[in-house]
Amino acid sequence: LVARRLPSRNRFYADLSQCLFDFVIQLLPTQEEMQVKEDVRKLLERLIRTIEPDSRLLSFGSTANGFSLRNSDMDLCCLIDSDERLSATDLVIMLGDLLERETKFHVKPLPHARIPIVKLTLDPSPGLPQGIACDIGFENRLALENTRLLMCYAMIDPTRVRTMVLFLKVWSKRRKINSPYKGTLSSYGYVLLVIYFLVHVKNPPVLPNLQQMPPLRPITKEDTHVAGYNTWFFDDVELLRTRWHSENNESVAELLIDFFRYYARDFSYNTGVASIRAGLLKKLTKGWQNDLSAGRYHDSRERNRLCIEDPFELDFNVGRCVTKDGLYTIRGEFMRASRILANRPERAVIALADLCA
Ligand code: GTP
Ligand code: MG
Repeated sequence: LVARRLPSRNRFYADLSQCLFDFVIQLLPTQEEMQVKEDVRKLLERLIRTIEPDSRLLSFGSTANGFSLRNSDMDLCCLIDSDERLSATDLVIMLGDLLERETKFHVKPLPHARIPIVKLTLDPSPGLPQGIACDIGFENRLALENTRLLMCYAMIDPTRVRTMVLFLKVWSKRRKINSPYKGTLSSYGYVLLVIYFLVHVKNPPVLPNLQQMPPLRPITKEDTHVAGYNTWFFDDVELLRTRWHSENNESVAELLIDFFRYYARDFSYNTGVASIRAGLLKKLTKGWQNDLSAGRYHDSRERNRLCIEDPFELDFNVGRCVTKDGLYTIRGEFMRASRILANRPERAVIALADLCA
């Protein structure tokens, strides 16, 4: 019996892995889309320089970290390389006016938001059937660094890491559990859950811990700290590819099945903090416990249902938007996915369609 089951299990993993690659590939942005986005970035940079000549406009988020899907929005960050500069609030107001006058974008400046940004949208056109949505923020150097960290992780094992992450992004969007504003988790949060799983849960690990590897040469606080946070990580991916080799040979399908099982059943949501930097931490030691009963703590309790430590901003919980109901729904979805895949249906392609239905 065992001998008969094994080949069928392996065949299911092979089929499912192939289906995952095929599924993800057709969702990648086209060359044309990437070119249009780069043209938009250049155009916006040129316009911003008429206000702040020493500025640069850089991409972060999915357009820059290798986890982009077709029609994903653009996250842009404006850096100003001069000491005398306008405040972010003034810049947002001025840039908003300028873009309104000079471009076809619909412009929504949010100068008084916690992080002032300009929101832009462009109507659909033949080259861009879905239009463009773009946020421009200022001086968000930590976001540029965490984008670079995720990009390095993606490059170490592009096939397995990118396939898993891209699939989970589509899945979480289709299952409607990817809306921080509605109490569920951001894409950034899901990516951190995947990396945490591949670095700290899988044994042998699929990925090394880039923040804990010994540096090649001595480093000083000046080269490693951004906005007061240590952002150092081993970023020489070319060298890493020759020096580091994962002992873990599981297929994407096996990893995905195990990912769902782990977050459905095993992760300690009540007491644990997922940290890609340091492994599993305790809410208690971070002061993120959620068992405070007094009414005035209601807010902090809501904020720490699902705890994911930001890789650099260690006092920042990336899962802070997840509410009690949101977490219940997310865990329910992990369980549902785990159940569908554990049944190993006859055809992997049907399992995949079912997962994202
Ligand atoms: P899609 O927009 O869904 O394609 O995903 P994305 O990869 O662009 O992720 P998301 O829009 O959630 O986040 C974009 C970038 O913003 C991330 O790569 C981070 O650099 C940054 N970011 C998002 N959320 C947080 C957060 O809670 N904390 C910090 N520090 N940075 C964040
Ligand atoms: Mg984004």
